[in-house]
Amino acid sequence: VLRWTENLTPVSLAFDDIYYAKENGLEESRYVFLGFNRLAEKFSSAQVFHIAELGFGTGLNFLATYNLWQKTAPQNAILVFSSFEKFPLNPQEIRKALKPWPELSDLVESFLEEYEELPDGVHRFEFEGGRVLLDLWIGDASSHLKEFSGPVDAWYFDGFAPQKNPELWSEEIFKEVARCSRRGTSFATYASTGFVRRHLMSQGFQVRKTRGFGRKREMCFGEYERGSWAFQQKDKSAETLQIVGGGVSGLMQATRLEQKNVPTALFESESSWIPGASGNPLALVMPNITGKPSDLSEFSLASFLFSTRHYRRIERLWSVGAWRESGVLQILSSPEKEERYLMGLSAHRIPRTLAQILSKEEASDFAGIRIHHSAVCWRRAGFLKTGPFAQALSSRLPPSSLRLGQKVDLTKDRASTVLCSGSEAAAILKSLPAPWKIQRGQISYWKSPESLRRLRAPVVYGGYVLPAHDERQIAGSTYEYSDQTEVTAADHSKILRQAQEALKFLEWPQIVGGRAAVRLGIRDALPLLGIWDERLLHIGHGSKAYSHASWCAEVLSSELTGVVAPLGRRLRQSLHPQRFAPAN
Ligand SMILES: Cc1cc2nc3c(=O)[nH]c(=O)nc-3n(C[C@H](O)[C@H](O)[C@H](O)COP(=O)(O)OP(=O)(O)OC[C@H]3O[C@@H](n4cnc5c(N)ncnc54)[C@H](O)[C@@H]3O)c2cc1C
Ligand SMILES: C[S@@+](CC[C@H](N)C(=O)[O-])C[C@H]1O[C@@H](n2cnc3c(N)ncnc32)[C@H](O)[C@@H]1O
Repeated sequence: VLRWTENLTPVSLAFDDIYYAKENGLEESRYVFLGFNRLAEKFSSAQVFHIAELGFGTGLNFLATYNLWQKTAPQNAILVFSSFEKFPLNPQEIRKALKPWPELSDLVESFLEEYEELPDGVHRFEFEGGRVLLDLWIGDASSHLKEFSGPVDAWYFDGFAPQKNPELWSEEIFKEVARCSRRGTSFATYASTGFVRRHLMSQGFQVRKTRGFGRKREMCFGEYERGSWAFQQKDKSAETLQIVGGGVSGLMQATRLEQKNVPTALFESESSWIPGASGNPLALVMPNITGKPSDLSEFSLASFLFSTRHYRRIERLWSVGAWRESGVLQILSSPEKEERYLMGLSAHRIPRTLAQILSKEEASDFAGIRIHHSAVCWRRAGFLKTGPFAQALSSRLPPSSLRLGQKVDLTKDRASTVLCSGSEAAAILKSLPAPWKIQRGQISYWKSPESLRRLRAPVVYGGYVLPAHDERQIAGSTYEYSDQTEVTAADHSKILRQAQEALKFLEWPQIVGGRAAVRLGIRDALPLLGIWDERLLHIGHGSKAYSHASWCAEVLSSELTGVVAPLGRRLRQSLHPQRFAPAN
């Protein structure tokens, strides 16, 4: 909870401290953090520069840094700003706090176009076409720092005053800070308290004192003096990466690698993009959460939010007409399910702006049709028109990189190959004993019955029904261990019966068509992301590629270009194919 001073400086009531100097927060940020890390000089020569901050607060330090980077960094340079924050402010508070600095107003607006209230986890925001990356680590910094990998080039220590906020200045914190630093990594902080200086020195930092900003007598800055073997710069090869598969995973992977200046060639054996499992006309986009925090929830929430920011940005920039942020209702058909969801939403600190439980009356108002149970309303979720979306991505890739109708012989090519080949990958990866789930799925096309025509948002109940589109309603889907892709009458009936049981419509829809395809999932519901037997894998999205693939593509392309990836060390391992390697 905040109190505001007369000149709009926010004060935390919980910590009884100000967020930055009352005299002028922006000037303080420039003097302390930018100045004593010598960023103007370093930005002008760095290709990738990584800053980490303890205490994101209003984002003022981030925006001041971004502003300096715009003026000093060379073309194609990348700035990554990782910031740790336990008590994120909402967009209204941030807008109010940053109002006193009109010179930042354009940056504030582009930041607030992307920023929203966030659940716990690591959330990547992209600006300047992906050349400025902000990773917000929402949650307690001491546990998050253990998951952080670095290497960091400059640190900002900006917790509340060390006496008032000691957990952000502890020995444990600085141990992790040192682990993520390399020789020459700099730091700056407005604080000069004795125990802070002692912790930094004992972890290997050289610490110097100087005059503080405004009325502050002293502040500290310095450099890490120990070497670290962990962070040898990898050689970046300019070799073209061969991406196998023109489904949603392959299109996302090619897009994100091109964005980071890695040349690619995108191969699809069929004659059009998204011909297989990715090609249903409409794809549902929503996260998966478990009752307690888990790898699956952490992965799904972060990648769902990253993907929807990506879709929103595509609409803002290119007006594709593909993304519908309608919200999605997930029906809770029993009190036990409702209980489990309540637990899940609170365990992940999911803000009400992102998801909340609605009564059946509220759910009916939201959906536009009668709903017979309470439901979780995922407000940022929705559905994507896959055709225009694939067209928008493929048409922005270099034409010379597109290889439609060309099948890659996977028995030959290994190195420099990224497998995004969906269900066909399992047969190739014989040496990987992953618990594959190769499942056929069918959807039905219905002529919209009167009772469903007013449906405004997808409703999920095990199966799902999407809002009518051109008088046609799409409902799905089946799961069956099989690789058959014929549309069957038996599956149409299954889909219809399940929908009728959940929605209790009076008028039976008329089936006018359908589509079936084969999806590749892994039993733990996490994809396979990383290197196996010389090949890079990006496969195994089950029924969620449109919620998760954009983020997975970002993780792989970050790793390939020496940019820190937006996830913790434990989750990284949980996504790696190596998790299924036979024990020696
Ligand atoms: C009925 C059904 C409903 C679904 N609903 C949704 C939904 O609502 N939301 C959602 O997010 N997901 C949904 N999915 C799942 C989603 O479609 C998959 O997760 C997704 O398609 C996986 O994408 P992909 O790009 O990894 O694989 P695919 O879409 O399978 O693409 C792989 C591509 O690789 C190509 N290929 C393979 N081998 C080679 C080779 N050697 N050389 C060249 N090309 C090759 C294939 O032709 C194929 O086009 C649904 C799936 C089904 C079956
Ligand atoms: C002085 S303010 C940061 C000001 C900020 N850098 C800015 O530009 O506005 C300190 C921040 O540290 C956060 N914080 C305090 N304890 C924390 C903890 N244990 N983990 C993560 N963040 C914490 C507070 O919520 C607050 O936003």
